[in-house]
Amino acid sequence: MLKIAVMVSGGGTNLQAIIDGIDNGTITNTQIVAVISNNKEAYALTRAKEHGIAALCISPKSYDTREAFNDALLNEVNKLQVDLIVLAGYLVKIPEAMVHAYSHRIINIHPSLIPSFCGVGFYGLHVHEAVLEKGVKITGATVHYVDEGMDTGEIIYQKAVEVCEGDTPEILQKRVMEQAEWKLLPAAINMIANKSK
Ligand code: GRF
Repeated sequence: MLKIAVMVSGGGTNLQAIIDGIDNGTITNTQIVAVISNNKEAYALTRAKEHGIAALCISPKSYDTREAFNDALLNEVNKLQVDLIVLAGYLVKIPEAMVHAYSHRIINIHPSLIPSFCGVGFYGLHVHEAVLEKGVKITGATVHYVDEGMDTGEIIYQKAVEVCEGDTPEILQKRVMEQAEWKLLPAAINMIANKSK
């Protein structure tokens, strides 16, 4: 059984896709042990609670220094004794000590085809704003392992999504979520849980 912790900061639609995938059998051999957010208002925490999943808020605002937060976060994650950490819209930088402690055991979903439109400042709607600004005709999403960089780890899966005439960032974000993110992240977790590719 693959034990996972899902780290979130916002609405939690990717978390919901994982919860639904486990419920409907597209993800097997997997248990969500806990959902962790830096944001106590994150609706993702409500989704977790509604599903009887432990929902933790560990916020940098609760600590005097970033180092103290980083230590507390790693300590809490270690207590969970999970096999895999899933970043699903988590907007806080993962401490280097945690990346090393969970080498090749942290994955992230990014709403573009890495290496395009990624790195510092490319998160949430900003990604889709940049895609529309550039005028590319194809975008998509990427699931990758997390390393010391920002959106630079080994790519696991990618899925292309068409940019349509008249798209707004919000319309494009929803299409990328529906057609790519909510399929790729469950597929990556299932692959890791069942060691196939
Ligand atoms: C998604 O667009 C995801 O690609 C990005 O952050 C957003 C999170 O959305 N990493 P949600 O909280 O899963 O709805």
